[in-house]
Amino acid sequence: MRMLDGKVAIITGASSGIGKAAAELFAAHGASVVLVARRDAALASAVDEIEAQGGRALAVAGDVTEAGTHDKAVAAARATFGGVDVAFNNAGSVGTMGPLAEIEPRQWAEVLAANLTAAFLGTRAQIPAMIEQGGGTLVFTSSFVGNSVGLPGMGPYGAAKAGLMGLVRGITADYAAAGIRANALLPGGTATDMAGDAAQREWAAGLHAMKRIARPEEIAQAALFLASDMSSFVTGSALWADGGNAAVKL
Ligand SMILES: NC(=O)c1ccc[n+]([C@@H]2O[C@H](COP(=O)([O-])OP(=O)(O)OC[C@H]3O[C@@H](n4cnc5c(N)ncnc54)[C@H](OP(=O)(O)O)[C@@H]3O)[C@@H](O)[C@H]2O)c1
Repeated sequence: MRMLDGKVAIITGASSGIGKAAAELFAAHGASVVLVARRDAALASAVDEIEAQGGRALAVAGDVTEAGTHDKAVAAARATFGGVDVAFNNAGSVGTMGPLAEIEPRQWAEVLAANLTAAFLGTRAQIPAMIEQGGGTLVFTSSFVGNSVGLPGMGPYGAAKAGLMGLVRGITADYAAAGIRANALLPGGTATDMAGDAAQREWAAGLHAMKRIARPEEIAQAALFLASDMSSFVTGSALWADGGNAAVKL
């Protein structure tokens, strides 16, 4: 069953990892996809791969901490594909790590900008376009970090990722009656560039009841559920796709 036939989806952080896997999966399920990230060569090759599989895709290169990037993505989605039905606001980065009292205010602000403010900036560009066409759905990549665990040195990142839980509730309060759904996706450790080297991945695997980290495709499948009408009564909510990290203390 194709779960996004005829839909248009914006996916941020689509140059690698979870976002790239989601772009491929959403396109395979019939969505026209708009890929957003800074690395334009990586975006172009992701678009080529999707088109080679018969999908419809375009790239918008830009920084998600800038409002204009989201405006451009929405404009491109409408001009080329006729609207915006789904926004997977997935881009993020760990940023500066360290004990909180040693984090400079500027470093804190950078982590919040990349992981939380960027999601707000996406929201404010995407929602008006969705409302104009009668509704839409937003999915935000949060994390197990900051929600089910605190990890040493990851205070700013965890705070930003926890903030996304408040954002989805706020969007729900403001826009559920207008046909907008918003949900957070909380991956556990996932085998992407962000997961670090083999030793770091092995350490992360031990934090999960399943004793492994996810493949990016597994997180993309959870995003597909939240993006599609399969989750039509799910909003203001959170989906843990975390190999049992939140459920089991080891
Ligand atoms: N991997 C994990 O263990 C894990 C666990 C839980 C949650 N997450 C979250 O999952 C999401 C995707 O990460 P990933 O694991 O797939 O890692 P990744 O491969 O490093 O992907 C991160 C993506 O975000 C984009 N990005 C980062 N900062 C950006 C900015 N300022 N402007 C535009 N794009 C930006 C990157 O693109 P460019 O560099 O091309 O801009 C890249 O496409 C992130 O929100 C991350 O926090 C990851």
